[in-house]
Amino acid sequence: MVREDGIIVPLKRLLEKYDEEKVKNLLNNFSCSKNPDVELFLKNTAILFEKLNKSRTYLIFKKDTKDILAYFTLALSILKIVDEEISKKTLKKLDGISKEKKEFSIYLIGQLGKNDKFWDEIKGDIILQEAIDTLCNANELVGGRIILVETLNNEKLIKFYENNGFKILQKRKDKKIDKETNNEIIIEYVQMYKII
Ligand SMILES: CC(C)(COP(=O)(O)OP(=O)(O)OC[C@H]1O[C@@H](n2cnc3c(N)ncnc32)[C@H](O)[C@@H]1OP(=O)(O)O)[C@@H](O)C(=O)NCCC(=O)NCCS
Repeated sequence: MVREDGIIVPLKRLLEKYDEEKVKNLLNNFSCSKNPDVELFLKNTAILFEKLNKSRTYLIFKKDTKDILAYFTLALSILKIVDEEISKKTLKKLDGISKEKKEFSIYLIGQLGKNDKFWDEIKGDIILQEAIDTLCNANELVGGRIILVETLNNEKLIKFYENNGFKILQKRKDKKIDKETNNEIIIEYVQMYKII
């Protein structure tokens, strides 16, 4: 339960209950103009990743409607420390014991976003808290210390995660093809972490 007028539904449950075309049509009603990757993941990849057990997507519906207010996607992943400047203290915080490790298994909040149509009807803090609570359930069952998010290098997004207890760890560059120009572009992501 998200709050009084929102309800959280795992994409997996929808795929068990309804045929795939129906679920696809439902997901097509989600748009996120501020971050097209968030929109495209839900429309093009979320179902495939669900079937392959690569990630789990959770939809937040407006109660008693088919309106998707927001969604988030969780996955297991590996964090590699690439920034040589990261302190031993931070490395110890990540591992719990060692100051020397440079690779960690992590819970990744891979996607998180609100639907354009209902932008003012849900707050990001609530979506993020639902994502964290869901990961805490996984933590109860199998352990795991670190939650990671990769945000665009944008002041407001970084602040949003900081306000919810995440700390900046390092930057990571990734190559992407610009759909309009077909040129390769470099995107910089900021990796932020929270210890469960
Ligand atoms: C991130 C998000 C969940 C936060 O929700 P929120 O706490 O309710 O806050 P708001 O939606 O009011 O956004 C806060 C500010 O960040 C800005 N912002 C949000 N996403 C942004 C993005 N992807 N790029 C640039 N600015 C963004 C908003 O325009 C707003 O700016 P303002 O204060 O000048 O109006 C929501 O803004 C969202 O869904 N963004 C698009 C998806 C996204 O980028 N997800 C993050 C992936 S790491």
